[in-house]
Amino acid sequence: MSHFTPVDIFSLAGRSVNRLGYGAMQLAGPGVFGPPKDLDAAIAVLREAVASGVNHIDTSDFYGPHITNRLIREALHPYPDDLLIVTKVGAIRGKDGSWIPALEPDDIKVGVLDNLRNLRLDALDVVNLRIPGDIHSPAEGSIEEQVAALAELQHQGLVRHIGLSNVTSAQIAEAQIIAKIVCVQNQYNLIQREDDALVDELADKGIAYVPFFPLGGFAPIHSSALSKIAQTIGATPIQVALAWLLHRAPNILLIPGTSSLEHLRENMQAAKWSLPHGVRAQLDAIGRGNGKLLEIPTLHWK
Ligand SMILES: NC(=O)c1ccc[n+]([C@@H]2O[C@H](COP(=O)([O-])OP(=O)(O)OC[C@H]3O[C@@H](n4cnc5c(N)ncnc54)[C@H](OP(=O)(O)O)[C@@H]3O)[C@@H](O)[C@H]2O)c1
Repeated sequence: MSHFTPVDIFSLAGRSVNRLGYGAMQLAGPGVFGPPKDLDAAIAVLREAVASGVNHIDTSDFYGPHITNRLIREALHPYPDDLLIVTKVGAIRGKDGSWIPALEPDDIKVGVLDNLRNLRLDALDVVNLRIPGDIHSPAEGSIEEQVAALAELQHQGLVRHIGLSNVTSAQIAEAQIIAKIVCVQNQYNLIQREDDALVDELADKGIAYVPFFPLGGFAPIHSSALSKIAQTIGATPIQVALAWLLHRAPNILLIPGTSSLEHLRENMQAAKWSLPHGVRAQLDAIGRGNGKLLEIPTLHWK
């Protein structure tokens, strides 16, 4: 039986990042709104993530809003030289916690300035332009004006690299005419596989694919077949779901989110699982068989 061990680093925005990163969204309060229930625990999770080798953190100023970035600043500033903080713009939060698209050029500038201020940075390493629409299948439509606005901020030195989130292959191609795109962040995991072809397309181009909801999001993936496979190889289902992503393609970078030290430690072990070919085939079959049947709660955009 052939074993395959994925490499553990990838070049993103000119930096070597550990393919196991960390997504900070879960650090804000319930519904990604307001402060965390346990501030000290949130700070501890961020510090331990970095101490355990994470050098790629995903965030946005609309998490909280402002909360997650301020937590990152409090926990980690001045930032280690090798830490790549990837943030995103394209939304604001309503007073009720709703997610409101903010994609006018002025909105994008305000989003960049908010991130700079709350992360206490002079320039942002990578900014993802987050396009609204159905989270399960991004909506086609031109994003030229928004990419041009971000490229102008790049020109001004406020943004070093540009990425895209919740986009289609056609939108990526359109954006690449305006600016270099270093990463794409769409929903993808063992069960939700709509982006299978896009993952391969971006792998061929050497562009990082950073799945959001790598564990299924607010309700982590649950599958009896996954649990059975995990038991067989002595891992947890969550570790296997992450290990499958690491094996899926070399350009996949993980940003699993957690507010728990215990879960962080479990997730950081995912890279140690080398999945035999037969196990990967069984895991692939879960996505093909069950994906459309699972109802997974998600974010609601206005
Ligand atoms: N571009 C976008 O539109 C977009 C959208 C959503 C998210 N994101 C980014 O993607 C990152 C990842 O997404 P996500 O955090 O929403 O979802 P996720 O990583 O798929 O899953 C997070 C959920 O899994 C739980 N969890 C984590 N580790 C676990 C473990 N070992 N055992 C059991 N449960 C575990 C977390 O709860 P606990 O806190 O209890 O561990 C949380 O409920 C976010 O942090 C954010 O940075 C981007």
